[in-house]
Amino acid sequence: MTSDTGIPRHVAIVMDGNGRWAKRRYLPRVFGHKAGVDTLVKTVLACADRGIEHLTVFAFSSENWKRPTEEVSFLMGLVLVAVEKYLARLASRGVRIRMIGDRNQLTERLRQACDHAESSTAHNTRITLWVAFAYGGRWDIVQACRAAMRAGVKPEELDEATLGRYMSFGDAPDPDLLIRTGGEVRISNFLLWQAAYSELVFSDCLWPDFDEDELDKAIRAYADRDRRFGLVKATVPVAEQATGT
Ligand code: IPE
Ligand code: IPE
Ligand code: MG
Repeated sequence: MTSDTGIPRHVAIVMDGNGRWAKRRYLPRVFGHKAGVDTLVKTVLACADRGIEHLTVFAFSSENWKRPTEEVSFLMGLVLVAVEKYLARLASRGVRIRMIGDRNQLTERLRQACDHAESSTAHNTRITLWVAFAYGGRWDIVQACRAAMRAGVKPEELDEATLGRYMSFGDAPDPDLLIRTGGEVRISNFLLWQAAYSELVFSDCLWPDFDEDELDKAIRAYADRDRRFGLVKATVPVAEQATGT
């Protein structure tokens, strides 16, 4: 096994629990989504401070289109508001933004906002924030197959590495640590391909309440894991591999 610093290179988060957070405060669900954006911005910067290179967040799933129209419309509008309010701050702090998901399902205005967020941060190198919006793990696999076929890849040429290059993350490393807040213990069609060997951490914390302590708790849990990738080896937690203790 390669050595590891105990800090994951790539963290992925299912930001779940916004609706329940609002409900507990006797507020409409959308207040939870709004608070969730503030938590996201703080989390990106906290991840960058810890040397995490990639953060992928699940913001809107392929299945979330089935929610009530008002909630879906609010979430679409929230992207525009978030870009307006936070893009400059994230850009100035070295964050590169990539949007992944089915852009064909978005309005032209939203597509433009996504393009703008990506192009205006493309030069940044401190951390890459991958925002999975209108994203589903199954969608990603299907779009990768289609792209490979369009590119003329022959069936006998298609292997895992080749298909992987057509997936939304391109050459980025797979997530090392996948966190889900909100108490549910499921993947909900997130990174079905890329999470093959991610370490999973589930937290009861509702997403708007997620903070640096929760992040550090998840990183500590990750550092204590023994990643074997199917191999047989002595059980040495990630953190001990790093220090050689
Ligand atoms: C996650 O929070 C955000 C989105 C799915 C857009 P939820 O809206 O699922 O909140 P809960 O799970 O109902 O509390
Ligand atoms: C997963 O949460 C999607 C996002 C956080 C964007 P959901 O709330 O949609 O997942 P389920 O319905 O509980 O599985
Ligand atoms: Mg939910």
